[in-house]
Amino acid sequence: MSFPQRLADDAALIDARLTAALAGHPDVPVVHAMRYALRGGKRLRGFLALESARLHGLDAIDPAASVEALHAYSLVHDDMPCMDDDDLRRGQPTVHIQWDEATAVLAGDALQTLAFELLTEAPNGLALVAGLARASGAQGMVLGQALDIAAETAEEPLTLEEITRLQAGKTGALISYSAQVGAIMAGADTAPLRAYADALGLAFQIADDILDVIGDSAKAGKRLNKDAAAGKATFVSLLGLDGAKLRARELVDIASAALDPYGHQAEILREAARFVIARES
Ligand code: IPE
Ligand code: IPE
Ligand code: MG
Ligand code: MG
Ligand code: MG
Repeated sequence: MSFPQRLADDAALIDARLTAALAGHPDVPVVHAMRYALRGGKRLRGFLALESARLHGLDAIDPAASVEALHAYSLVHDDMPCMDDDDLRRGQPTVHIQWDEATAVLAGDALQTLAFELLTEAPNGLALVAGLARASGAQGMVLGQALDIAAETAEEPLTLEEITRLQAGKTGALISYSAQVGAIMAGADTAPLRAYADALGLAFQIADDILDVIGDSAKAGKRLNKDAAAGKATFVSLLGLDGAKLRARELVDIASAALDPYGHQAEILREAARFVIARES
């Protein structure tokens, strides 16, 4: 099966699980906004969870839906006027535009708690809860987002080391956690998947920064050419476009090599790494 087909199949499974998770929720705007925020997206984090679990003979549909709920929350808040102030996400108006800011805050909050609820019945659920909490909190995604916002008004441009730390938090932590889900569920060594995902996560954010400069907004489903104007610290701002592309390619090789202990079985994850830097959305 081709990689795009597998990604689409996994996305369909994740979408069905998310729909089921919200079935029976009250018929109120905040729940409508949650469903809306969950729609679309590549489902890359959920894919990584499902595929890393398959490597260990397990089904990670709940952790996959969970990480996509957490990610959706982070996007709803990222787009708000107090953060990146964006009006387009996944080809649709952002939640605070479609509803209002209070609804966006609350829909994001409830997507976050839904993410943790979805982990409670998974094998090794407590370890998954701990992993997701660490990846998304003040040592992970929230830290990265805070550094990202702070960098907009910093007097000096960030160094390569500082940008790497920022990206490792804002994007890397959740991607890294997603790819470790299978090993966490199985109680197996997480080191190979972590090494893979750390490189993948960085490559992913470099690709996001490159897309901001040379991407097509219609394909990406979000506004582009915003980072430089907002004074964002990105790999492109530091390494230039060619330097950033080169670094992304190096990272894909590092990610692929890290999967050696899994041999041929991990080919779908290697393809995911190649996809991450070739994507247009
Ligand atoms: C976008 O993530 C935000 C970043 C962390 C760079 P994705 O590019 O995975 O967004 P979706 O989920 O496919 O919409
Ligand atoms: C968003 O990063 C990261 C998170 C939501 C955690 P960006 O601000 O670069 O993502 P886009 O470009 O808006 O998708
Ligand atoms: Mg942002
Ligand atoms: Mg943003
Ligand atoms: Mg971006």
